[in-house]
Amino acid sequence: MQVLVTGGAGFIGSNFLNFSVPKYPDRRFVNVDHLGYAANLANVAEIAKRPNYAFARVDITDADAVDRLFQENTPDLVVHFAAESHVDRSIVGPRAFIRTNIEGTFNLLEACRKHWPKGRGLFHHVSTDEVYGSLGDTGAFTETTAYDPSSPYSASKAASDHLVRAYARTYGLATKITNCSNNYGPYQFPEKLIPLTILNAIDRKPLPVYGQGLNVRDWLYVEDHCAAIWAVIEGGAPGRTYNVGGNNEVRNIDVVRQICRLLAEETGAREEELGALVTYVTDRPGHDQRYAIDATRIKTELRWSPRETFETGLRSTVRWYVANKAWVDEVRSGDYRKWIATNYGSRVQP
Ligand code: NAD
Ligand code: TYD
Repeated sequence: MQVLVTGGAGFIGSNFLNFSVPKYPDRRFVNVDHLGYAANLANVAEIAKRPNYAFARVDITDADAVDRLFQENTPDLVVHFAAESHVDRSIVGPRAFIRTNIEGTFNLLEACRKHWPKGRGLFHHVSTDEVYGSLGDTGAFTETTAYDPSSPYSASKAASDHLVRAYARTYGLATKITNCSNNYGPYQFPEKLIPLTILNAIDRKPLPVYGQGLNVRDWLYVEDHCAAIWAVIEGGAPGRTYNVGGNNEVRNIDVVRQICRLLAEETGAREEELGALVTYVTDRPGHDQRYAIDATRIKTELRWSPRETFETGLRSTVRWYVANKAWVDEVRSGDYRKWIATNYGSRVQP
């Protein structure tokens, strides 16, 4: 069996490949990535020499290149991670999100429709809980919650989910969708809250917290997400959607405080010194207040459950960033510094 993994040089895609390539030696995995700013082939260095791994540099917005990919390989499974993934970047520059997340997904669906005879292949679409919009103080997203996206990022992911379902209903393409909550773990590009906070704290730089830090996210360790995707690929019903989440609702300010405590424990730094770096800054426009996942369906139908608690997963993550300074130095390149200046330069402290 051949598996195309799009976005396999990014955060979740590379964790998925590192998890899957050794585990399934009889499957050939092709990592399909255009190597954008969040990608790094160092993320997959450990599996790069395995005989069941290959890399193809392809931009999924290029329909001809996507078609060639399907001519040169004979995939039975596409696991689609490739996306523009950062909400703040989508606010500053939404066009790339429309191109990659909507048109790129469309190009892949078209290639599946063209190259897969009826009954062949599975398109697994990796999506987000952000398509459901924002929750108040109570309740949780189920698979039947109405879509109500707030940011250009979540709107583009919502559109891609709709396209995937449309291809299932109209053309009979076998598809599955997972909508997952916020991930964290090794290899996450340090524009997202958790790695940004860890690295800024290591460098004793300000820890930017949007608004009052009271927004809530439901955190899941990346390997638990990868295991959930396999559970759905192998056991989920075609055409079905599964919500994935760790039941770990934490306010942003408490995430930042917990990182300060763990980093102090891991490195001998003083927790109070790190805590004093917390800096409240201008809020994100359209900032969703709270996400929470009701994962009953995947838990009961597929017997999936997360292995890590937020405490154990966050401790491993902090350790990983402390131990992988060379990776960190490489990704914090000129382009990264430009983004930090763009996003944080205009935010003020109240
Ligand atoms: P990421 O930004 O770390 O990685 C995205 C990867 O896609 C990068 O390697 C990038 O080079 C590649 N890519 C982007 N545009 C491309 C294009 N036009 N052609 C080919 N490759 C392209 O993102 P991530 O956090 O790993 O997210 C992966 C997927 O999981 C996304 O679809 C995202 O919506 C979804 N998701 C993420 C989270 C999260 O918390 N990070 C949660 C739920 C769902
Ligand atoms: P982020 O990691 O960007 O994920 P998402 O927006 O997809 O949930 O942000 C997580 C939460 O942290 C979100 O509520 C915004 C907040 N946040 C900050 O407070 N400061 C920051 O510097 C960043 C990047 C995010």
